[in-house]
Amino acid sequence: MRLSVPGHKDLRKIVVLNPKGGCGKSTLATNLAGYLAAHGNSVAIMDFDPQGSSMRWLKIRPGNSAPIHGISAFDVRSSATRSWQLRVPPSIKYLVVDSPASVPAENLAELTSGAHAILIPVLPSDIDVHAASLLMKDLLLIAKVSRRMGRIGVIANRVRENTVAYRKLMRFLNSLAISVVGVLRDSQSYVHSAERGLSIHEMPTTRMKQDAERWESIIRWLEEKLETPLTPRDFHRPESSSDILQLAMPIDRDKPPA
Ligand SMILES: Nc1ncnc2c1ncn2[C@@H]1O[C@H](COP(=O)(O)OP(=O)(O)OP(=O)(O)O)[C@@H](O)[C@H]1O
Ligand SMILES: [Mg+2]
Repeated sequence: MRLSVPGHKDLRKIVVLNPKGGCGKSTLATNLAGYLAAHGNSVAIMDFDPQGSSMRWLKIRPGNSAPIHGISAFDVRSSATRSWQLRVPPSIKYLVVDSPASVPAENLAELTSGAHAILIPVLPSDIDVHAASLLMKDLLLIAKVSRRMGRIGVIANRVRENTVAYRKLMRFLNSLAISVVGVLRDSQSYVHSAERGLSIHEMPTTRMKQDAERWESIIRWLEEKLETPLTPRDFHRPESSSDILQLAMPIDRDKPPA
C-alpha cells in the first residue's frame, strides 16, 4: 500500500502514528479532529487503516455537529485514481492522518514527509514500550525524521497514575529526548464519546472535564508546531533498501529497551 499523503500548499498536516496495534491512534485522531472542528476550523481526516475506524466514527457523527471531511485512503482502487480519491479540498486547513497498525519501516518516510506534527500514542506496557523504542529508531534512522525540528510528540495513553507501568513508561519516554506532549487517562469518556461519533470535547456533559483538561498541553504544543513553517528538513527521503538493511542490522529487535 502506498502511504504518501497528498495535500495543498496551505495545509497543516498532523500524522498520528504507531505501528503497534490498539495504542490509541484512531482515538487520538478522531478526538483531535473533533476538537479542531468544534473550534471552527475546516478539518479533514484521512484514514489509512483498513479497519476504517475513523471513517466509521465520521459516519455516526451527528448531523448538527461541526463538519469534518473524511477521506478513506485504505480502499484506493488504482494508482490512476489515487490522487483524485485522496485529494484534500482547498478549503481544508487541517488534515489529521490516522495510520494503520503494522506500517513497515520503509513506509515511514512517505507517511511522515511534510507533516507539521507527528503524534505517537504509547501505552504503559512493556510490549508497547519496546515497540515504541523500535519505532523511534526507525523514524530517526530510516525515515530520517529530523529530531532537531521537534515535530515528533509522544502521548502517553490510557495511563493509570501511581502504577509501576506508568512510571516505567514515563522513564522510557523521558530518556528519548523527544517531547512528551500529553498524558491521557484510561477513561470511559473516550469509549462513550466514540460511540456517538463525537470527541470528548464535544460531549454535552461536564463529566469529561477532567479528560478534556489533559488535552491542553497537546493543543499548546500542536499550535506551535502547526505555525512553524515547513523546511526542506521536514520532507523526509527514504533510504535506499540497501541502506535500510545496513541501518537495521545493528538494532537488536528482540532485546527490550534498557
Ligand atoms: N485513553 C483511553 N481510555 C480508554 N480507552 C481508550 C483510550 N484510548 C483508546 N482507548 C480504547 O482502546 C481501543 C483501541 O484504541 P484505538 O482504536 O484508538 O487504537 P488504534 O491504535 O487506532 O488501533 P489499531 O492499531 O487497531 O488501528 C479502543 O477500544 C478505544 O476505545
Ligand atoms: Mg485505528
